[in-house]
Amino acid sequence: MPKLNREAQHRINFTLNGAKVTGFAEPRMLLTDFLRQQLGVTGCHVGCEHGVCGACTLHIDGKAQRGCLTLAVQADGCNVDTVESLAGREEELTDLQQAFQKHHGLQCGYCTPGVLMSVSDYLTRNPDPTEEEIRDMLSGHLCRCTGYAGMVHAILATARGRLGEGGVGIE
Ligand code: FES
Ligand code: FES
Repeated sequence: MPKLNREAQHRINFTLNGAKVTGFAEPRMLLTDFLRQQLGVTGCHVGCEHGVCGACTLHIDGKAQRGCLTLAVQADGCNVDTVESLAGREEELTDLQQAFQKHHGLQCGYCTPGVLMSVSDYLTRNPDPTEEEIRDMLSGHLCRCTGYAGMVHAILATARGRLGEGGVGIE
């Protein structure tokens, strides 16, 4: 890792997955790089670094955002959550994660953290989505394994389970 020049660095404090973190970053450093290289939080994947693929999606103050389009200094004072936050301290998978597992919503898993973070935000705003709406939402994510059908089934199953219309096993 390159040596830090403290004079060119800004001190950053924020809450990451429920814990206070602090560090130093140059003004141009991306949040994805800060998380992965300085904090060792690697669930935030990096694909295109241009806001296209969605692999880096995380939550900032509860809203899904592209980590590669966010500067680390912009996270100062915010609540940042990555895919590591979903399972919680007991490491019990959420209903959404269980549904992805059951409905084969992931293959290599590269796109999966970003998709899970987008969907977990999306379902709070649209708890009863149609299949068309889910496909539209997923258009913001590129899956090189092209496993979109499994994701759609998993998201539908999660939404229906939360609405009391069946658990993650719904077909
Ligand atoms: S790495 Fe951020 S959108 Fe592709
Ligand atoms: S599961 Fe491989 S990139 Fe999506």
